[in-house]
Amino acid sequence: MLSFDENSIRTENGSVVMHSWETPVMQEMCKWVCKRGAKADVLEIGFGMGIASDFIQSHRPNSHTICESDPEVLVNLKEWSKDKSNVTIVEGDWYKNLDKFTTYHGILFDTFADMNIEKFKKEIVYTLSKDIGTHFCIWDNMTSDVHPNFKPESTKKLFVEKDTKDSPYVDTDYVYVHKMLITPTSN
Ligand SMILES: C[S@@+](CC[C@H](N)C(=O)[O-])C[C@H]1O[C@@H](n2cnc3c(N)ncnc32)[C@H](O)[C@@H]1O
Repeated sequence: MLSFDENSIRTENGSVVMHSWETPVMQEMCKWVCKRGAKADVLEIGFGMGIASDFIQSHRPNSHTICESDPEVLVNLKEWSKDKSNVTIVEGDWYKNLDKFTTYHGILFDTFADMNIEKFKKEIVYTLSKDIGTHFCIWDNMTSDVHPNFKPESTKKLFVEKDTKDSPYVDTDYVYVHKMLITPTSN
């Protein structure tokens, strides 16, 4: 069972799944994945607090597919999407629903405690990418200069304001947003 408050989602043992201090990071990531604007078909994996989803919607993409596995988060996602005709929900673990995806102009990947994340980075992301290039961002290794699996087109160092107790997963006052362009053949 997750617990929800105004600023965070936490697991039963108190681990932070998502926190509102990440908002500027989400905004920067969404700017990149929505680079193709209204023509874009965007895939988002992990709805969480819906912070990124709101930013993606503000770019008015052609389509916005959201995959989410947690039943309680799915309730919020369904409520949030009620008035959004460009949203398609894929329910469940992304890894078990690969047949429901197509290719996308933009992909934002932000899951939690995901044992298949390495498979996404090493294989799957290429199969979901467009020949012309897919704008991709992932919440992963945000504190290193270079992303281990990809050559970012650019990297932005973002300073963030957070309370130490709410950020054991980031021990600096900045994170890096790695902006990547993926093609089916770039791995
Ligand atoms: C860090 S939160 C996402 C935060 C989101 N980007 C936001 O702006 O609020 C991670 C989300 O991914 C979901 N999730 C975790 N593992 C998943 C998986 N394998 N497939 C789909 N969703 C997953 C969690 O339930 C949670 O809602």
